[in-house]
This record gives sequence, structure tokens and C-alpha cells, in this order.
Amino acid sequence: MVRSKILATGMYVPPKVVKNDDLKAFMETSDEWIRQRTGIEQRHWVDGNVSTSDLACEASKIALKNAGVDKSELDMVILATLSPDHEFPGTACFLQKKLGVPGIPALDVRQQCTGFIYAMSIADQFIRTGTYRKILVAGAEVHSKGLEKNTNGRDVSVLFGDGAGAIVMAATEVKDPKTDSYLLSTHLHADGTYAEELWTPAPGSGFAGDRVTQEMIDERLIYPRMNGKTVFMHAVKRMPEAVMEALSANQLKPEDIDLFVFHQANLRINDMVAKQFGIPSEKVFNTIQKYANTTAATIPIGLDEAVRTGKLKKGMLVASAAFGSGFTWGSAVYRF
Ligand code: ACO
Repeated sequence: MVRSKILATGMYVPPKVVKNDDLKAFMETSDEWIRQRTGIEQRHWVDGNVSTSDLACEASKIALKNAGVDKSELDMVILATLSPDHEFPGTACFLQKKLGVPGIPALDVRQQCTGFIYAMSIADQFIRTGTYRKILVAGAEVHSKGLEKNTNGRDVSVLFGDGAGAIVMAATEVKDPKTDSYLLSTHLHADGTYAEELWTPAPGSGFAGDRVTQEMIDERLIYPRMNGKTVFMHAVKRMPEAVMEALSANQLKPEDIDLFVFHQANLRINDMVAKQFGIPSEKVFNTIQKYANTTAATIPIGLDEAVRTGKLKKGMLVASAAFGSGFTWGSAVYRF
């Protein structure tokens, strides 16, 4: 049977490191508050004229090199992001231009923290149907330019970092499903009832007047808003549900999984999910301490970092799950 598999990973973060204490220059906060509640110790933020597609391009080039795939072999580019370069066209078009692969389809995925799982799932469908054979799937964010970097916005702005991760997915003929590397399944969900619990209201067409007004800026509608407790409550319910769904679809038990690479919103969320399944901490790969929440990029960054640190090896069974704005959530199980 023809399925998709991950050929290789890549990641890129901008060089500037912002420690928790550095944030005190703009807002009332503390290293202790941030660490205790989230596990975050630092994040990387871009400097100057660096965009989401720039970060995505660096990560993509590394993933292509690691895969031994020439860019001319790509059939499609998919990019998940909530921090696009421009309102339109999609950031995948800018990534495609920077990579130098004109002509092939370029698709943006706007499912925020679950964006990478959605993107993997879309790539998998195109490959399973035989439409395409090699797809670049990237997740990238430049959050730092959209955060309210003062005490008013501190509940959100301390959480986010800039960065990008990418994988190359390719068609594979699965002969032995018990040992071959392939994507076993993906499971996607959304509930727009909660769309306004974690969102950036403006600019947009959801207003009586113009898409962008001075009033929107004055009222701080251009910054992300989050009802943190509601998000937390739903995340610790939906992430385990999504993991369970993926495991039971493949007749697997939590102990069959070699490594869990979850979305990185909050270390406490991931600890609670791990506890629910009795997963030992060494089987959960977290990067939030170093990179904070890079939204659509957390899972490919986690995969690449796990490969480079020797935690993730070929043939290992991996489960990923994410939850975020929308609300959206989902999971994927794959043999690496
Ligand atoms: N530094 C210091 N104090 C702060 C900060 C800060 N950065 N931010 C908020 N506080 C204060 C608040 O003002 C509040 O003060 P008060 O009690 O005097 O009113 C106090 O700290 C407690 O704030 P809470 O909101 O109750 O803190 P909580 O324990 O809920 O933790 C947190 C907040 C970390 C945001 C948590 O709710 C959380 O992690 N939520 C989930 C985040 C998430 O998963 N987001 C989804 C991903 S993002 C995406 O999809 C785009």
C-alpha cells in the first residue's frame, strides 16, 4: 500500500535569545512567574527585517538537505502559520518564491497551534491518493512583531517565541506495517464555539466599518487575546482525547509509543497529559523551556531537536498531539 513517511526534519530559530528577565525592560513580570506557570526560560525573537517565510525557508532548506531531496523533486509546499508575512497572498507563496520552486502548489494552513498536524494530514491525503510524491511541510512563526509588549499584554506576550520547523514527506510502499516507517493516521478536530477565547480580533471583515481603523489600534484589538484558564481547561481534556483516538485507531497502547512530541503551549499541560497516560517523562520531548510557544512550529522543531539530540531514531513509533486557537486540536501517529 502507498502511504506517506517523513524523510527528514529541519529547524531554524533566529539568533537573538530573550530571557524571561529581559522582558522586565517592557513589562511587569518575573522569571519566577513565567517559569512556574509555563516552564518557559527563554525564547528566540527576530531582529529587524526577518519574516515568517524567511524562517520557514531556512528550516526547509535544512530539511531538504537532510532528506537528500533536491528542491526540483518537490510536488507541493504546505506552510502552517498564524503570523503571515502579509494579509495576502499566503505565506506559502513567499516561501515557495524564496525556495525557488515556482509552479508547484503552495498552500497556507491557518489552524494555529494545530496547524502542523492539519498540514501533515493534508500532505498525507495527497500522497495516499497518488496525486503527489514529495511534499515540503513547514510550520513557522514570527510572533514577536505582533505581541503587545507591555504590562497590558503580559499574559500572552511572555508565552510566544519565533521559529520554524519543516519536514519532507514522501510516498512509500509499506510492505511490513509493523516495522516500516510511515504515517499511520491523523485525527483532526475543531470547535468554533470557542473561536473568541483565543484570537486577534482586528484587522478584519468582522466589523461594521472598514477592515482597519485607528480605533482598532487604540482599543488594542490588533493584539492576541486569550482566556488562559478556559484554554488550559480544554487543552488538558482535548489533547489526551486526541492521543487516545490515534492509539485506538491503530490498536496501540500508550506504552507502545517510543516518543511523544506534543505541541508546546505550557509544560504543565504536557505534564498533565503525560500523567493521565502514565507516560514516563523521558518519553515526552519538550522544547518549550528554550523556544517558548512557537505555535505551528513547535512539533517540527521538537522532531528536529529530538533527532539532533539522539532522542528520536529511525523506526521509533511517535505520537503527536496539539491544541490551540479555534479551538482546534488533533493528533498523528507515525513510525519515524
Ligand atoms: N507576569 C506576571 N504576572 C502575570 C503575567 C506575567 N507575564 N501574566 C499574568 N499575570 C498575573 C495576572 O494579572 C494575575 O494577576 P491577579 O491575580 O492579580 O489578577 C495572575 O498573574 C494570575 O494570572 P492567571 O491568568 O490566573 O494565571 P494562570 O495560572 O491561569 O496562568 C497561563 C496563565 C500560563 C497563560 C495559563 O492560563 C495557560 O497556560 N493557559 C494556556 C495557554 C495555551 O495553551 N495557549 C494555547 C496556545 S496558543 C495558540 O493556539 C495561538
